[in-house]
Amino acid sequence: MGKPLIDRRRGCKIMTKKKIGIIGCGKISGIYMKMCKRLDELELVACSDLVMEKAQASAEEYGIPKVYTVEELLEDPDVQIVLNLTVPAAHSRVSVAAIEAGKNLYNEKPLAINREDGQEMLSMAAVKGLRIGCAPDTFMGGGLQTCRKLIDDGVIGEPIAATAFMACHGHESWHPNPDFYYQPGGGPMFDMGPYYLTALISLMGPVRRVTGSTRITFPERIITSQPQYGTTIKVNTPTHVTGVMDFASGAIGTIITSFDIWGSQLPRIEIYGSEGTLSVPDPNTYGGPVRILLGRNKEWNEVPLTHGYTENSRGIGVADMARAIGTGETHRANGKMAYHVLDIMHAFHDSSLEGKHVELASTCTQPAPLPPGFGL
Ligand SMILES: NC(=O)c1ccc[n+]([C@@H]2O[C@H](COP(=O)([O-])OP(=O)(O)OC[C@H]3O[C@@H](n4cnc5c(N)ncnc54)[C@H](O)[C@@H]3O)[C@@H](O)[C@H]2O)c1
Repeated sequence: MGKPLIDRRRGCKIMTKKKIGIIGCGKISGIYMKMCKRLDELELVACSDLVMEKAQASAEEYGIPKVYTVEELLEDPDVQIVLNLTVPAAHSRVSVAAIEAGKNLYNEKPLAINREDGQEMLSMAAVKGLRIGCAPDTFMGGGLQTCRKLIDDGVIGEPIAATAFMACHGHESWHPNPDFYYQPGGGPMFDMGPYYLTALISLMGPVRRVTGSTRITFPERIITSQPQYGTTIKVNTPTHVTGVMDFASGAIGTIITSFDIWGSQLPRIEIYGSEGTLSVPDPNTYGGPVRILLGRNKEWNEVPLTHGYTENSRGIGVADMARAIGTGETHRANGKMAYHVLDIMHAFHDSSLEGKHVELASTCTQPAPLPPGFGL
């Protein structure tokens, strides 16, 4: 990622690579396995899955040297960072075991299903001096970094409000194993909220207080993807979640995430500033388009992207963490921000149940922007 360090005297790369072991060789693992080959900071040395055939198949496809059980992977002293790509319900169990084994950890989102598990992970890692990173890293892509630079440069003035919308009809039509999307830790907010909330925090800083309203519209879902075509899923988590966020900065955000909507023409994210409006690209992608409307000007203009990594680059957050372990800097897709996101998502649901605003106990710092031209 970026330029590797060069030892000028010997004219060769200083070994900064961190050795990665992946746990969970499912749908999303392929892009990480591919990116581990492309990113200078990472070397994928081992993989593992509850279903050994899946780990074996991934190892063959991506040339991964070692196929392990989870226990064997955690015992291998070579593995420096565990990449936990299991389903949300297994995140904290696998992560706690990895931290106990002395491994740095990077988790797929969400950080954990409940706050207690997320806190346990953070405090265990702090005691052991280990890093925790967490997806998404889409906010490090060219689209959202261009937006960050526009805001930091004051182009839209002071951000006063934001809207974020994710409307679809769920994942049972395409995902091979969609049950987890309808269980606690799934639902549209825990599944897609991390992209939208992480993007908003990276653009506007942390949130102070939230309000929410939630509902379950369809108590059962029928799977229409293979191999479980025709199977019924019982829905155990809200599938339409609306939230209001008071940012620490004073800006006010509105978010809707829904698996109950057949179609919509809502934008993904818009940031409203005192001088203009910024149209932010889909935060589940790395690229553009970025569009802006200034003052009374009625025209939207597309802004050229100032940063690279505009294709699916899942893994740049892991590379940033690997590099930060070497330099001692704070990595961007960090556990503290992921915990703040988890806290916000729970607070929307708590607010709906309790019928009141929820003041957040957590906060985080806005991650450092990437330098312009990064990755181009
Ligand atoms: N599928 C996507 O498009 C997508 C996109 C972004 C993020 N994610 C996130 O990635 C994670 C994985 O999603 P997925 O779609 O790849 O799911 P998946 O069901 O396809 O894969 C998960 C894998 O983890 C394995 N696993 C489960 N529990 C385990 C355990 N305790 N130990 C070892 N292996 C275990 C399963 O056998 C399976 O192979 C989730 O957190 C999800 O939110 C998925």
